[in-house]
Amino acid sequence: MIHLALQEKLQRAVLELMPEADVSSVLVRPCPEPKFGDYQTNALIGLAKRNRLNPRELAAKVVGQLDVTDYCEPVEIAGPGFLNFQLKTAALSDTLVSATRGEHLFYRTAAEPRTIIIDYSSPNVAKPMHVGHIRSTILGYALAKVFRLLGHKVATDNHIGDWGTQFGKLLVGWKEHLDKDALGQDALAEMERLYKLVNTACDGDETVLARAREELVKLQDGDAENLAIWHEMIDLSRHQFDEIYGRLGVEFDETLGESFYNDRLKGVVDDLVTQGIAEESEGAQVVFFNDHKSLKKHPAIVQKSDGAANYTTTDLATLEHRQDSWQPSEVIYVTDGRQQLHFQQLFELYNRWKPGHGMKLNHVWFGAILGEDGKPFKTRSGEIIRLSGLLDEAEQRAFDVVSEKNPNLPGEERHDIARVVGLGAIKYADLSGNRQSDYVFSWDTMLALVGNTAPYLLYAFTRIRSIFRKLGNESLTRPESFALGQAEELTLAKHLLHFGLVLEQVVDECRPNYLCNYLYELAGHFGSFYENCPVLQAEGEIRTQRLALCDLTGQVLKTGLETLGLETTDRM
Ligand code: ARG
Repeated sequence: MIHLALQEKLQRAVLELMPEADVSSVLVRPCPEPKFGDYQTNALIGLAKRNRLNPRELAAKVVGQLDVTDYCEPVEIAGPGFLNFQLKTAALSDTLVSATRGEHLFYRTAAEPRTIIIDYSSPNVAKPMHVGHIRSTILGYALAKVFRLLGHKVATDNHIGDWGTQFGKLLVGWKEHLDKDALGQDALAEMERLYKLVNTACDGDETVLARAREELVKLQDGDAENLAIWHEMIDLSRHQFDEIYGRLGVEFDETLGESFYNDRLKGVVDDLVTQGIAEESEGAQVVFFNDHKSLKKHPAIVQKSDGAANYTTTDLATLEHRQDSWQPSEVIYVTDGRQQLHFQQLFELYNRWKPGHGMKLNHVWFGAILGEDGKPFKTRSGEIIRLSGLLDEAEQRAFDVVSEKNPNLPGEERHDIARVVGLGAIKYADLSGNRQSDYVFSWDTMLALVGNTAPYLLYAFTRIRSIFRKLGNESLTRPESFALGQAEELTLAKHLLHFGLVLEQVVDECRPNYLCNYLYELAGHFGSFYENCPVLQAEGEIRTQRLALCDLTGQVLKTGLETLGLETTDRM
């Protein structure tokens, strides 16, 4: 990884001159303007300012200490004190050669692996998963995979909502209105129907509401019948969730639902009260954040006036459990943006409860999914969109795309490919935008064969596979070096080198879209290379080198797509 080697040398050179300096921010990044160089650092400017030095003078001194002749042409000092590095083709060639030997794929695993907990998906029992849960599932799973690729230890936890006041109404519905056949057909839909039925009944009839409260108290007190029904509701829901996870190829290390923490909640509240963090207000236990800029107006309730704990209390107990069980350096929550206030309160509360806990608490939130009319994504009749139906439709539509592209493939193979392309398209649409922006769900956009889409990238990969199919039994020889004589070869090779940097950026900011953009550009560079540089028709060493470039591009594309949670296909 040349940029890391450059960075290490640069940091050492700075330390020679300024032994006290904090060099953690002395970074080498791709040069924004390729005509000035391949890599650049702007860190010396800030460093000089902080130490009241002249930036250009500091830059000149650092360059004097810096020996990077193995990698670069003479280093240039530009503007107010930038350093520009122009790679030597020989250095590029060496990195490619070591990659063809399988020594690396342009990234390095962490020297000091961290432990990260990722809380994602987390749907609610007795309610169908909706498109927001799918986005959490896909983003969370992709993040887990990128962290793991870089050698970190990840524990994923599906914090399903399996406890709460809704079970009072659900129990009334179950006992009085259950349609067993409907339950067998689609359990979540039937439970949703029961909930809505009782919920509406409660509005007009106090006695129904009272019955729901009674059932809830019985459940909380451990009544055998209610517990059994509650368990059945969880089992049925989880069965349906697992079906979706299976189709999406998503897994979790843990599925500790909210109810797992029930017996700890009382202790959490007592603790907060004894420590003077929570105080009584109108019968409830409340935490006020009077001295806090943004939370001043948003006190958090940790125990309601009826004595019940809530979502916040459960999340506090959950976080304590995570800290005690895993000692993570970071806990990541992937939910939609509407929960921002909840997580701000939670993190602030936890900091007060466990000062100096040392974990980075990170709410990775995302925007809404909109229909093509710009309104929240719903069915025509205004119902929320069911995930299973959505996935069916994706596969069906992808089947049409694949059939049009390649009508001669056998039907069964087209179905397999359509599954990969259709599910890939949905996943990629969730991943490829800035996660904090709302995005418009459009079949035509996500299934297009041009643009930054899954079909485009999957197709680029199949083109590489088809080159190797044409080789037949001919065995691949490894090049001794790469000449990179054509501009397109050079551009492609340099882009391959950035893979690791992009992976680092993804984990730093929890933004998988950086990887999507990188792969999209990679496919583009590959396209120009393939158009301008004959591969199979080339001869001798050049042919060997170009084939190796194709192979490395294919490996990076495949690894990148799989790390995002997509499957690949050899044909399309
Ligand atoms: N069940 C919640 C929902 O559907 C999401 C839970 C997110 N995780 C957490 N630890 N609060 O909105």
